[in-house]
Amino acid sequence: MFANNLLADRTVFLTGGGTGLGRSMALHFAELGARIFLFARREPPLRETAEEIRRRGGQAAYATGDVRHPEAVEAGVEAAWRVWGRVDTLVNNAAGNFIARTETLSANAFAAVVGIVLHGSFHCTQALGRRWIAAGEPGIVLNILTSYAETGSAYVVPSACAKAGVLAMTRSLAIEWAPYRIRFHAIAPGPFPTEGAWSRLMPTPEFEERARNSHPLKRFGRHEELTHLAAYLLSPMAEYLNGECIILDGGLWLRGAGQFNHLAELPAAVWQQLEAVRKK
Ligand code: HXC
Repeated sequence: MFANNLLADRTVFLTGGGTGLGRSMALHFAELGARIFLFARREPPLRETAEEIRRRGGQAAYATGDVRHPEAVEAGVEAAWRVWGRVDTLVNNAAGNFIARTETLSANAFAAVVGIVLHGSFHCTQALGRRWIAAGEPGIVLNILTSYAETGSAYVVPSACAKAGVLAMTRSLAIEWAPYRIRFHAIAPGPFPTEGAWSRLMPTPEFEERARNSHPLKRFGRHEELTHLAAYLLSPMAEYLNGECIILDGGLWLRGAGQFNHLAELPAAVWQQLEAVRKK
């Protein structure tokens, strides 16, 4: 779909890139020529992803740290600058989530998720934004949200609050930092199978089956469907996009919106009966 050098000018600081969608994006961006710097808590997955990128002929480095702590983020950004000489792109991908009844949550459970998603995205955005502004260099920030950032969702309240906050930050800074030529994009993915999300959000095969059956397209997203959109947003083709959130969920969130959408579950025979009655 894209030329192999589409992202040859980009140096990407990507959080949470050792696993899941972050790993898939890192591999794809590197294939398109970007230099990658991964930043996450656990070293083994980072090392494995960086090695895989290099094995395929790409360029990757990494540092470990927790996005919840601003000083760790500073150190990570410093390290990226030392390795690549500059960073021009940030992908706020690191996330934390689990399903739980909200009345059972401890304060620390709420803080853990909000700390990773909202505070972590802010720390990274501010650390890079300050450097870009001081140097007079442009930058791109891509925030990975979820489709319920806009609607909210039961049983994932810390994540819904945090992702809604990152959406607000996306739209706010798209204007505030536009004079500095720093642009913001967001992708709100629906269900994309990853070990991290699935182990916490789809704990049994029945959960997964129910989720698939209630999807309008009866399937989950494929990683390349997300990485292609992300690559486009980081490319020169998307330079007039700023502050938009693209929902990539196969229409899942709309399913709950239309008053009669539940009729999708009606069997054909029932439709035929209804139509026969109407024709009389
Ligand atoms: C209730 C829970 C819990 C659960 C943890 N906690 N899991 N509470 N139900 N299932 C509580 C703990 O008891 C603790 O509170 C507090 O949360 C912090 O937990 P720790 O394990 O000490 O924290 P930490 O090691 O920092 O782990 C953070 C985490 C963890 C968010 C809890 O799950 C994590 O590291 N996740 C990263 C990967 C991930 O979640 N990926 C999925 C992203 S999917 P107390 O009070 O006991 O100290 C996503 C997109 C969603 O975001 C869209 C899908 C459709």
